[in-house]
Amino acid sequence: MGRARANSPRPIVLSVGGSLFLTGEDDAAYLRRLAELLRGIGSRQPLAVVVGGGGAAREYIELGRELGLTEVELDELGIEVTRLHARLLAALLGPPTPAHPPSTVSAAVHELGRASPVVLGGTEPGHTTDGVGALIAVRTRAARFVNATRVGALYDRDPESDPKARPVPRLTWPEFREIVQRDSGSSAGQRFVFDRLGAELLARARIPLAIVDGRNLGALSAALRGARFPGTRVD
Ligand code: UTP
Repeated sequence: MGRARANSPRPIVLSVGGSLFLTGEDDAAYLRRLAELLRGIGSRQPLAVVVGGGGAAREYIELGRELGLTEVELDELGIEVTRLHARLLAALLGPPTPAHPPSTVSAAVHELGRASPVVLGGTEPGHTTDGVGALIAVRTRAARFVNATRVGALYDRDPESDPKARPVPRLTWPEFREIVQRDSGSSAGQRFVFDRLGAELLARARIPLAIVDGRNLGALSAALRGARFPGTRVD
């Protein structure tokens, strides 16, 4: 599926933060409801779901860094954890979702022409799963990109340390790019608002980005359908 076909709906790309997977709070019930939502949306429109590594990836990366592994080796550890999460979600979704998550962007785009949802994790060192999702979105001329996180929006200040932080409902691409540039680095396991490569690719292709609380399935469903949702919209 190199380009959107004339009569088929344009794909949707969802990146799911790994931090949504293992919170210790009703994870199994949440994942079952998430799978149900994704099955429903994916049956109507091609849906690619890219899953992150969350805290587990960061713990392995920290351990590896203490042991002297190179940045590329650390990225590869992170990729393995994202793939573990992708396998879990793919197995839960069942057919037609491929049980073995594609390991490259082109394999994912190819699968999306035959099955939906398609679930995958990371691909290669140097970016995050947001970047993988953006590459798929650009290749497939996606209608929108949804980024499901635990934080649920972009804030004007750090919401973890500042109680006065307020969510920003809407941003232009130049404003968002500036925040991403200021915020991001390139070492393995770093936490930032959004992947720099991903922001550049989506901005250039003018694909709208929605940042939403992934645990709020009503909000996530609205964002995936292109309806109004609580969170941040970049377009
Ligand atoms: P994530 O995509 O989970 O990064 O990849 P993140 O920003 O921590 O996202 P959340 O917290 O899940 O939302 C984890 C790490 O795996 C490596 C990077 O080191 C990244 O920081 N990785 C991931 C890659 O090198 N390439 C990929 O394609 C994906």
